[in-house]
Amino acid sequence: MASFHRSIFFLLAVTAVVTALASTAAVAADADMTRLHFYMHATLGGPNVTTVRVVEGPAALADSNFGDLYVIDDPLTDGPAPTSMLVGRAQGFYLLDSIEGSGVLVSANLGFAANGPHNGSTIAVYGSYADDQPEKELSVVGGSRKFRFAHGYVLIKTYSFNATTGDSILELDVYVTANK
Ligand SMILES: *[C@@H]1O[C@H](CO)[C@@H](O)[C@H](O)[C@H]1NC(C)=O
Ligand SMILES: *[C@@H]1O[C@H](CO)[C@@H](O)[C@H](O)[C@H]1NC(C)=O
Ligand SMILES: *[C@@H]1O[C@H](CO)[C@@H](O)[C@H](O)[C@H]1NC(C)=O
Repeated sequence: MASFHRSIFFLLAVTAVVTALASTAAVAADADMTRLHFYMHATLGGPNVTTVRVVEGPAALADSNFGDLYVIDDPLTDGPAPTSMLVGRAQGFYLLDSIEGSGVLVSANLGFAANGPHNGSTIAVYGSYADDQPEKELSVVGGSRKFRFAHGYVLIKTYSFNATTGDSILELDVYVTANK
């Protein structure tokens, strides 16, 4: 019986050590956060279009953009000017998924230039927001290469918007943690 108690005690001690090691690893991984900051240029028309509506919602909902689907291949630059250094591209789609509100569901990959500091790595972004929010937030749900197992979030603000063309420049702050 005494030896049974000793084995239980030993088992509990081992479990405590393993748990402590596991939580240390989690803290170390969380400390390894990278902040990325850049601008995204959405051009809706003209010769250099980067954002295209590929599906239009049902005509029965004429007052609503519900069901509209856009494909994007928007340049990401380090500064707000379109001529700033290109750091990558945001490729994917967004879907207007709210009948009465202004809900936007986004699924996109941020792909970084092979000659840049993030060397061809990607960050997968997914999430939903109401388009009338001044600051929008999306989730980082994964990544590749440098950003394998990435998690985090993206804050998005409108830097400029041209009401005539619909073109916009968005400011993105990406907070991402990846296990190395
Ligand atoms: C379209 O892109 C080309 C090549 O980068 C550039 O020379 C031209 O000025 C752009 N046109 C517009 C309207 O932005
Ligand atoms: C970029 O990635 C490639 C392929 O993984 C690798 O061969 C190269 O050394 C990397 N370059 C830098 C600067 O990290
Ligand atoms: C909006 O775009 C139009 C057409 O390119 C341009 O003439 C106008 O100056 C732009 N407005 C702003 C505020 O940039």
